[in-house]
Amino acid sequence: MDGPWFRLKSICRSSLHELRRTHAKRGFFGFNDAMPLVGFTALVILSLGVAGYAVGVYGFLPLGVALHPDMRAAFEAHRIGVYAHVFTSAVALALGPVQFSARFRAARPGLHRWLGRLYLGVGVLVGGVAGLFMAFHAFGGLAARLGFGCLAALWLYTGFRAYRAIRARDIAAHRRWMVRNFALTFAAVTLRLWMPASMVLGIPFENAYPVIAWLCWIPNLVLAELAFNQARNRATRPTMATEPGSAAQER
Ligand code: HEM
Repeated sequence: MDGPWFRLKSICRSSLHELRRTHAKRGFFGFNDAMPLVGFTALVILSLGVAGYAVGVYGFLPLGVALHPDMRAAFEAHRIGVYAHVFTSAVALALGPVQFSARFRAARPGLHRWLGRLYLGVGVLVGGVAGLFMAFHAFGGLAARLGFGCLAALWLYTGFRAYRAIRARDIAAHRRWMVRNFALTFAAVTLRLWMPASMVLGIPFENAYPVIAWLCWIPNLVLAELAFNQARNRATRPTMATEPGSAAQER
């Protein structure tokens, strides 16, 4: 019972407990412990990974080298739109996670504001307008074009609402719209997770792509809303200690 395996397990359990405790106290992801540390770490790695991939592939390799031949032809016909979209959107993807760190916001509020302007003004505004333009020429027919088009429109809209909220000093609304906005930014990551998944399932690319154009962002938004509801329920739920009839109440 008291062997090295048992000791290792109890050390791991208490370190994990400590990490959770401090993480919840510091509010790592802005809306506090709604996102566990492990989820936040995965979000950072995936965001930086896809932003790095985009800059690496589009900055250093011939255009469309890793794409379906039909997509490559459309990209070559709209080079400016592609490059404008890829490089500016990568800025949003790389900056987003930093902005959600409560510790960072508390320590460097001025930098948070500047990075926010860069995120919205360069990443979302330029990336979104170029993304909307690209949506008209997307591979996969009308379904894919509509999927990407709605994503672009919502990306711009949620960014606008987040900006308007912070200009009105409504921090709660700003945070909510920013979480929605980043859930959409994160479509760049989920798209690149659904693509290999569809390949593993043996679904032909031309059938999978129009579905992925929707699947890459709708679940992200649903998850963001669920996280809000969960956080709200947790905040309004009475604790054991204050529930009627509890020992604390009786004391
Ligand atoms: C959230 C709003 C976004 C919209 C509406 C959008 C839209 C699009 C569209 C329509 C295409 C062309 C697809 C095709 O021709 O079939 C595309 C390609 C691409 N997008 Fe986005 N995008 C968004 C976000 C991002 C972000 C945040 C990045 C970050 C790096 C990104 C990186 C790319 C890249 C690298 C490509 C080229 C395709 C590839 O190499 O995989 N996009 N995007």
